[in-house]
Amino acid sequence: MSQLNDTYHLLFSTEKIAERVRHLGAEITREFDGKPLTVLVVLKGSFIFAADLIREIDLPLNVEFIGLRSYGDRVETSGVVQITMDVKHPLEGQHVLIVEDIVDTGLTLDYLIKNLSTRKPASVSVASLLYKPARAKVKVPVAYLGFEVPDKFVIGYGLDFAGKYRNIKEIGYLEPPPV
Ligand code: IMP
Repeated sequence: MSQLNDTYHLLFSTEKIAERVRHLGAEITREFDGKPLTVLVVLKGSFIFAADLIREIDLPLNVEFIGLRSYGDRVETSGVVQITMDVKHPLEGQHVLIVEDIVDTGLTLDYLIKNLSTRKPASVSVASLLYKPARAKVKVPVAYLGFEVPDKFVIGYGLDFAGKYRNIKEIGYLEPPPV
C-alpha cells in the first residue's frame, strides 16, 4: 500500500479480523439473550470495528457515539481524559456496550466506565478490538476482546498515528516507531 513503507509490519489480516469480529458478535448475541443494547462507540478509533461488529450482533440495538481524547499527536498518553463529544440521549436503564479500539494504559476506559456509572445504566460492558497488556496501568474489565497485541504502536482498521492510517484495511505496526 502506497501510504506504508518498509517500517510497516502486519499483525492481523482483514480475514483474521473479520473472523474474530464474527465470533465476538455471536458471543454478544448469545450472552445478551434478546435484551436490547445501546452500543456506545468511542470515537474516533473504533468506528470501523463498531461498524463491522454491530452487523454481527443479532439483537435490537441503537448506536451512540462519544468522543474521548487522551492522546495528542504523540504515542504517549497524556494521562488526562477529556470528553470531546457526549452522547445525545440519556443512558439510564440501558444495557450499554462500550466499543473501544484498543486498551493501552486503560486510563481512558477506566475514566469512561466511572463516568457512565453515574448515569445509572442497567449494565455496562466492554468490547475492545485490541489490548496491549505490557502497558496496562489500571485493570479494566474487557468482556469481549479481539486480540492481544505486543508493545508496539499499532495502526489500521480505524487506528491512527497522528490522524493517519485509519483507512488501512488490516492491522499492523510501524517499526522503528514514528517520532
Ligand atoms: P489508554 O487510555 O492508554 O488505554 O489509551 C486509549 C486510547 O489511546 C485508544 O482508544 C487509542 O485511541 C489510543 N491508542 C493507544 N495505543 C494505541 C496504538 O497502539 N495505536 C493507536 N492508538 C492507540
